[in-house]
Amino acid sequence: MQPTAFIFDLDGVLTDTAEFHYLAWKQIGADLGIEVDRELNERLKGVSRMESLERVLAAAPRPLNLSAAEKEHWATQKNLLYQELIETIRPSDRLPGIDGLLNDIRNAHMLLALGSASRNARFVLERLGLADAFDYIVDAGQIRFGKPHPETFVNAADHFGLPYETCIGVEDSAAGIAAINAAGMFSVGIGSPDALREAKYRVDDTTRLTLSGILEAYGIG
Ligand code: BG6
Ligand code: MG
Repeated sequence: MQPTAFIFDLDGVLTDTAEFHYLAWKQIGADLGIEVDRELNERLKGVSRMESLERVLAAAPRPLNLSAAEKEHWATQKNLLYQELIETIRPSDRLPGIDGLLNDIRNAHMLLALGSASRNARFVLERLGLADAFDYIVDAGQIRFGKPHPETFVNAADHFGLPYETCIGVEDSAAGIAAINAAGMFSVGIGSPDALREAKYRVDDTTRLTLSGILEAYGIG
């Protein structure tokens, strides 16, 4: 079957905001006496703000037993730190290879969607100068179940009215790859083989990402 659409994750795929999320969680962890290292961070990628906080709290040396209001407080603090960091984003912060790939997809007459778990997705897209690059955007505000649930990806395919098996999802997180696979779509992973074991096709970084490479792996190259 010919592929019809690409659904891109944002953080860590179009730009390196995954690093900003990490720095913000590291700071919150330090305030709470919890070490947030890169290994823990791998499990924060792709999941919602509150679920990320739960995973940080689960790494505490002793249970902290925070109330719902206290959790809201720390999630808000993390977001304030993150929002300070994303103020600096410029169009030149698009990751290498992304512009070429988006152009090639357009020229091949396939549809483009963005599927992000972030409530800051639209702001980041604006800062990157990519607000008009996508035919459809689905973010945390529109869905009930975050990644690894398939809803984000299914929502985009349903919007276009396309069969799931003709859609290709691009992700940097294990949770995101699981969501794409659960949606019955073809998953493209960007990152380490350890974290992205379940990806149908994987590259180390965005410089290795080409439409021809993806389509060959999908089966029509
Ligand atoms: C995802 C990130 O895109 O968005 C996660 O990979 C983040 O790390 C999630 O927790 C939610 O983001 P935000 O901006 O709504 O806190
Ligand atoms: Mg991501």
